[in-house]
Amino acid sequence: MTELEQLRHDCMGIIRQAGGMARQRMYTATARRKADRSPVTDVDQAVQDFLMDAIARRFGDDAVISEETQSDPGRHASVATARRCWIIDPIDGTRNYVRKVPMFAVSVGLLSQGSPVVGWVYNPMTDQLYSASQGGGAWLDDARIYCSQTPPTGEVFIGLPSGREEPLPAVVHGWIDRMVQRATGSTALNLALVAAGCFDAVFGNNCKLWDIAAGAIIVQEAGGRLTDHQGRSYFPLDPAAYRNTPTPFLAGGSALVQYLVSELRAGRC
Ligand code: IPD
Ligand code: CA
Ligand code: CA
Repeated sequence: MTELEQLRHDCMGIIRQAGGMARQRMYTATARRKADRSPVTDVDQAVQDFLMDAIARRFGDDAVISEETQSDPGRHASVATARRCWIIDPIDGTRNYVRKVPMFAVSVGLLSQGSPVVGWVYNPMTDQLYSASQGGGAWLDDARIYCSQTPPTGEVFIGLPSGREEPLPAVVHGWIDRMVQRATGSTALNLALVAAGCFDAVFGNNCKLWDIAAGAIIVQEAGGRLTDHQGRSYFPLDPAAYRNTPTPFLAGGSALVQYLVSELRAGRC
C-alpha cells in the first residue's frame, strides 16, 4: 500500500466522526450570516475545529486552509513553507443544512506541492464516503467508482449550482433545456456524484478552493477531469497565494468536459 493510500484509510475515521457531529447537531444548530451574506452555523465552526485539531495532532508538519478561519498559524505549519496543505470545507451545503435539507457533505482534500493527492467527501445523511488517493483509484466506501462515459448526444445528467449567487451564462440555460439537471446545493457532493457515475458532468461558477480540492482528486482518480471554464487545470496552485479567488469549473468524463468547455467558450449551445 502506498503512503497516500495508507493516509486515505487512516483518516476515514476522522472524516466520519466530523460528519457524525454535523448529522447529530443539525436540528439544534444556530445560524448567522457571514459578511458576504451567506449562512454559517455554530456546527460549521465545531466541525472545522474538530478537523483542524485532529490534523494538528497527527500531521504537525502540514499546513491547513479551512473555509471559516482560513488558516491558524498557532495550530499548524505555515502555508508558505509546508510541502503539504489540507483544504477543509467542514460543511459544504450550509444553506441546505440551515433549512434541514439532508444534503450536505464534509469535504477534505490534501494538496502536496499544490496538487490534490488525497480527498474525502462524506455524506453524513447517507453514510457514504467517497475518497481517492493519487494513483490509488476512487472509491465509494469499499467499492471502486468511475466517471460515466455518456456522450454529449446521450441523456446527460448535469449538476448545476442552485442559483441566486450569480446569473448562469446563457449557454447553461441551453443545457438546462437539453439535459437532465440536478442541483444538490453542495458542490462537493456534486463532484462525488460525478466520480461515481451518477451525474455525467457538473458545472460550478461561484466556488472556492475548499469546494473543489477533495472532489478534484476523486474525479481524476475516477477517470474524469476537473477544469476551469476554459479547459485549464487549477493545479498545481500555490496555497499561500490563495485569496478566496473563485474557482469556476466543469467536471466529468474527459470527452464530455471537452465538449462542454467548447460550448462555453463559443458562448453557444
Ligand atoms: C456552497 C456550496 C454550493 C455552491 C456555493 C458554495 P457552502 O458552499 O458548495 O453548492 O453553489 O457557491 O458557497 O457555503 O455551503 O460551504
Ligand atoms: Ca462550500
Ligand atoms: Ca462550508
